[in-house]
Amino acid sequence: MLLFGLSVFVLFCLSAWAAPGNNTEEAGSPFLHFLTRYGRRYSPGSLEFQKREHFFQESIRRHEYLNSPVLAPYENNSAIYGINRFSDLSPEEFKAIYLQSKAVELPKYVTTSAKEAILPARFDWRDKNLVTPVRNQLSCGGCWAFSIVGGIESAYAINENLLEELSVQQVIDCSYEDNGCNGGSTINALHWLNKTRVKLVRASEYEFKAQTGICHYFPSSDFGVSIRDYKAYNFSDIEEEMMTQLINLGPLAATVDAVSWQDYLGGIIQYHCSSGEANHAVLITGFDRTGDIPYWIVKNSWGSTWGIDGYVHIKIGQNVCGIADTVSAARV
Ligand SMILES: *[C@@H]1O[C@H](CO)[C@@H](O)[C@H](O)[C@H]1NC(C)=O
Ligand SMILES: *[C@@H]1O[C@H](CO)[C@@H](O)[C@H](O)[C@H]1NC(C)=O
Ligand SMILES: *[C@@H]1O[C@H](CO)[C@@H](O)[C@H](O)[C@H]1NC(C)=O
Ligand SMILES: *[C@@H]1O[C@H](CO)[C@@H](O)[C@H](O)[C@H]1NC(C)=O
Repeated sequence: MLLFGLSVFVLFCLSAWAAPGNNTEEAGSPFLHFLTRYGRRYSPGSLEFQKREHFFQESIRRHEYLNSPVLAPYENNSAIYGINRFSDLSPEEFKAIYLQSKAVELPKYVTTSAKEAILPARFDWRDKNLVTPVRNQLSCGGCWAFSIVGGIESAYAINENLLEELSVQQVIDCSYEDNGCNGGSTINALHWLNKTRVKLVRASEYEFKAQTGICHYFPSSDFGVSIRDYKAYNFSDIEEEMMTQLINLGPLAATVDAVSWQDYLGGIIQYHCSSGEANHAVLITGFDRTGDIPYWIVKNSWGSTWGIDGYVHIKIGQNVCGIADTVSAARV
């Protein structure tokens, strides 16, 4: 799977550049427009060019289906799907590169307080400047590490009032219960961090390389953030309670089914996203219940040009995309 993913990446980067023609007919073709916009360099006439054009046309058909008013009755705030930088990948290629996380069976959260908490209409840890910028996992299937490191950064910022970017590469290289850029689980990584008390160093000291490497060790005197404990629950059917925990614990790491996210452009995802088939990991930073459709505010790791400045909105209440199935937060 990794080899396949990497070979796609290499093709993007190395295949010979031949400028597409510039006659008006070609300039009007959506595929050529896509090639220019995303800097693709497939030689016209090559097999690769034909293959990519085929996947692109398939993606256009997918967008019609996903946006279809028959299957997803159009309403305001509905998610919108269309051309983005993943549009020349087949769904299989997309899955092999970007969808490398699993759901884990967790205990159901048990409500302890008798009274229902009063929740604000809108809450987002970004508003307090306690969330690091959106990252880009590139061709590394390390979403699980991005998800929990994001959560630890925020937990540390909430405690210390100091927002530091911590090393995702360290978790990818060192969490031996996971498979680095070939995939992993948020819960295994938290289990490892809680057991070993490894200190995560700054991202600038242990830079992201988009591939699994050898685990580096740092003297215990160096700056680093270790976790003291973590919580992990299944909040399916109790997303109200999950909102309370987001306020109490900080941003929440979650696993989701992100197959339809290949084509996501914006809006609130309400359909075409199953639960119980998780393949990706993300970080929930907040929620918004001010409009007709309440939604989770979710930070992804596919760069800031994907979705809504790197974020995606997911409807609250029906475990859409399995957002409430595998939820965790670290305590630092
Ligand atoms: C293509 O044509 C447009 C409009 O005539 C022109 O502005 C542009 O520079 C041309 N691009 C190339 C690569 O020749
Ligand atoms: C969507 O919103 C617009 C403007 O707010 C409104 O005119 C329109 O009726 C709404 N459509 C639906 C289907 O609710
Ligand atoms: C979470 O709980 C729901 C409802 O109890 C269940 O259907 C679902 O399978 C659970 N999810 C996981 C990942 O175990
Ligand atoms: C984390 O580690 C502490 C200390 O070893 C332990 O008491 C706690 O149960 C662990 N947390 C989880 C969720 O396993």
